[in-house]
Amino acid sequence: MKKILLTGVNGQVGHALAAQLQQQPIAQVQLISCTRQQLDLSQPVHIRQVIRQVKPDLIINPAAYTAVDQAETERELAFAINATAPQIIAEEAARVNAALIHFSTDYVYDGSKATAYLETDAVNPVSVYGASKLAGEQAIAAVGLPHLILRTSWVYGSYGKNFLKTIIRLAQSREQLRIVADQHGAPTADIAIAEAVAQLIERWHPHNAEQTGIYHLVNRGETTWYGFASEIVAQYQALALQQGWPALLLKALQAISTAEYPTPARRPQNSRLVSNKLEQVFGVRLPGWDTSLAQVMPALSALEN
Ligand SMILES: NC(=O)c1ccc[n+]([C@@H]2O[C@H](COP(=O)([O-])OP(=O)(O)OC[C@H]3O[C@@H](n4cnc5c(N)ncnc54)[C@H](OP(=O)(O)O)[C@@H]3O)[C@@H](O)[C@H]2O)c1
Repeated sequence: MKKILLTGVNGQVGHALAAQLQQQPIAQVQLISCTRQQLDLSQPVHIRQVIRQVKPDLIINPAAYTAVDQAETERELAFAINATAPQIIAEEAARVNAALIHFSTDYVYDGSKATAYLETDAVNPVSVYGASKLAGEQAIAAVGLPHLILRTSWVYGSYGKNFLKTIIRLAQSREQLRIVADQHGAPTADIAIAEAVAQLIERWHPHNAEQTGIYHLVNRGETTWYGFASEIVAQYQALALQQGWPALLLKALQAISTAEYPTPARRPQNSRLVSNKLEQVFGVRLPGWDTSLAQVMPALSALEN
């Protein structure tokens, strides 16, 4: 029997993982999913208590401080949750002989590379959030337990707050939307991440030290926020009649530059991550980003469309 402790179950990835691991016929898994109240990462004592009590074989930690812009003025809290907490989780996991799957981000890179990033490329975060996530990665590696750090990007799904749902909401109420068209990356569906992690759980041998480390885990292909928004609108319109969704008011999407949409935190211009290592080591390959979007879209029916 494999006991899995899952954090942040009310987040996008945590929610999708809980659903996936409950339905997936993974041999003999006992899943203990925790909300923020059940496992508060801002409380080191609480983290230690829960892990010592549960004694899991595997901890999966998608919980994080993800308010990228707010982190610029909440540096201490961002580091407490994204750096100190993963360190404590790793220490406690090592203590009870558990392995750790942790999530990180494209924001560990500065985005200045001309081509897509490999796991071996130099990191250089340009935001507090990115720096806090990098510090979390480094703290886990320093503890030296069996771990997978999965760097993903542009996460969205039918659950939680995200770009997909914001675009649909705005396109229902505005005739024109201005969307950044000079940041490049891969939108990654929460369900694609969850399916990939379920495969990793079956294929990973934590005691094989060669498998421990950092992996990019993103949907295949690439686009811009403008390209993503265009595809969302196209897929919405193709499904709207059949799903009984309201017609969009939107008449035009306007491509703008990052400079025309200033935010407190800087974002990498290039967020493209090559996921080949994940495929080479574990045989795990994610679908194209537009394919995953088509899988997520019908689930929006249940929402306030
Ligand atoms: N979202 C993206 O675009 C993106 C991109 C790249 C990488 N990532 C990484 O992917 C992972 C999953 O992201 P996501 O999109 O699923 O994030 P999310 O939807 O914002 O969920 C984050 C979760 O963390 C929980 N959390 C926050 N503070 C906590 C605390 N003190 N104690 C316990 N739980 C706490 C939140 O709890 P509440 O529900 O109570 O607020 C929420 O459930 C994170 O590691 C993130 O850094 C995300």
